[in-house]
Amino acid sequence: MGRSAPTTAALTLGALMLSAASGMVAADDAPGKAIFVGQNCNGCHAVPAASVEKLGDQTVTGPDLADLGDEYKPCSLRRWLKRKKDHDGYTHLQYFDGTDEELELMVSWLLEQ
Ligand code: HEC
Repeated sequence: MGRSAPTTAALTLGALMLSAASGMVAADDAPGKAIFVGQNCNGCHAVPAASVEKLGDQTVTGPDLADLGDEYKPCSLRRWLKRKKDHDGYTHLQYFDGTDEELELMVSWLLEQ
């Protein structure tokens, strides 16, 4: 994912969502993962099963994301990430700022982790 060229890291991050949409991500990277990283979800969350580490650049720490399928249905997870729905009394901190298609790709990927 362009990590070998630090000077282009910022650009790469910005381009991730675009490249996910146009299928230009590395073969071993699911589009959902690229969207997750492109939205900076890993600023607060690790996804251990997909080797996504938390960046630690946020003051808030979110829980590691795993086994979400036990707790969420795709539609409720999408609504939670769009902040249209709470979960156990919480509203999510971050509004998902991508398209519906990106949200769907990312949520189906997340539920597999
Ligand atoms: C600024 C920090 C922050 C960012 C950025 C963030 N989250 Fe969260 N997230 C949290 C916190 C904190 C929680 C715990 C519940 C709460 O307080 O909202 C959480 C909870 C969650 C949960 C529920 C976990 C569970 O076990 O029930 C999911 C799923 C989730 N986040 C996904 C995402 C996705 C996808 C993104 C990117 C679009 C994202 N988060 C971005 C802080 C963050």
